[in-house]
Amino acid sequence: MREVFEVRDQDGAGRVGELTVPRADATVRTPALLPVVNPNLPTVDPSRLPEFGAQALITNSYIIHGNEGLRERALDEGLHEMLGFDGPIMTDSGSFQLAEYGEIDVDTPEILRFQRDVGADVGTPVDIPTPPDADRETAARELRETTDRLAVAEETDTGEMLVTAPVQGSTHPDLRTEAARDAYATDLDVFPVGAVVPLLNDYRYDDVVEAVAAAKRGLGADAPVHLFGAGHPMTFALAAAAGCDLFDSAAYALYARDGRYLTVRGTKHLDDLTEFPCACPVCTSHAPDDLRAADEDERTRLLAEHNLNASFAEIRRVREAIVEGRLFDLVEARARGHPRLLDGYRALLDHADWLEASDPASKDTFFYLSAESARRPEVARHRDRLARLVVPDELCLDATGTRDDAWPVVPPFGPVPPALRETYPVNAETPRRVDGDAQVAAARGVAALAAAHPDAALTLVHDGWPARALAALPDAVTVEEQDS
Ligand code: GUN
Ligand code: ZN
Repeated sequence: MREVFEVRDQDGAGRVGELTVPRADATVRTPALLPVVNPNLPTVDPSRLPEFGAQALITNSYIIHGNEGLRERALDEGLHEMLGFDGPIMTDSGSFQLAEYGEIDVDTPEILRFQRDVGADVGTPVDIPTPPDADRETAARELRETTDRLAVAEETDTGEMLVTAPVQGSTHPDLRTEAARDAYATDLDVFPVGAVVPLLNDYRYDDVVEAVAAAKRGLGADAPVHLFGAGHPMTFALAAAAGCDLFDSAAYALYARDGRYLTVRGTKHLDDLTEFPCACPVCTSHAPDDLRAADEDERTRLLAEHNLNASFAEIRRVREAIVEGRLFDLVEARARGHPRLLDGYRALLDHADWLEASDPASKDTFFYLSAESARRPEVARHRDRLARLVVPDELCLDATGTRDDAWPVVPPFGPVPPALRETYPVNAETPRRVDGDAQVAAARGVAALAAAHPDAALTLVHDGWPARALAALPDAVTVEEQDS
């Protein structure tokens, strides 16, 4: 791959970065959202997209290629002129149509040359979007075909245009990782995780996270990752925390056409709203009744504008949370918006070892906000570090917060040398009413310390830990209960 992406800030696997797009002579600050523009009937005039925060857009070269009028105009004027948009334009290839209708009438060299000729800044080969749950043999066979097409894309003269290398593999994580390794080994530039739209449509956010995590394991840290078809703002924080840098949204327009109103906590229907819970220009200058009374085109346009405002506000929030080191707090908040998002967050935490590898050693205060917080990578890291500390021959571990002569035991981290008590992450903000999951995690920290120091005599003093936390302690630790 060429070097077009620079990571500026990192939180978990999430990053704020800068994608350089040479042909547009522009950079894109990521995570970024690219609105999908339907070349036949743009719902919002593309020239207005920067008002909402769009730095780049995506359109479909296959649709343009297949329509004589559009094709001639695009070849004649170029895409930027035709759409009235100066910034970077990414084009998709028709692979999605391939998945929907079984065949298309262009191949990779032809569509890439067409994308180049109409002035696309980022082009896409004709990958095969193998749907979720495909049997392994089918997924592997189609993946070989996609990999061959990426080789063809490398050989095609695409000029300065960046070219994507989609990562397929259906719901087989090892195939995704292999696909990602092969894609990363090409000289292609941007790495979309493909064929996740059916998963997103079915709210299978845990499977989306597995697909992204598997792809990320095969890609270098300098690879910009696009999540193809992820356009609902409730998913951005989670997908960014899994390491996605680019999103595209057709949802803002498709949902608007059905009277649907996007929020970070889910979708609402215009018919059900008595007030708009949003401070965007559309929502502060209209009431739901106004939109219901408007004609269809006006209503669709206004809903699409709100949907864009809500989407870009969330993208800005995600970027800021990464810079602040508070992305996990945002993901936890979003995970409370829908139980399936909570599945996605829990799936992400299953990869705590991998998240830990990229998580900064120090950031803003750790907030313990839910039982899931006990599984964050910072907790695993503290536990790993305990094994490397020197401990006295006899040591009292105090979970009651009352003893000066002991190492405090801080839920969810576990034992902490007194000198480190005020350092990140153990200076965490935790609720005063500690829950059992935090105590179980703290007990695991005690167990890790005991395992690394078998010759030390450890005593734990607690004030009413639940049985399941005590059960996580090894026999070698003496336990004393103190009345609270
Ligand atoms: N749009 C949504 N999913 C995909 C995919 O897997 N490949 C391509 N090229 N476009 C998509
Ligand atoms: Zn609004």
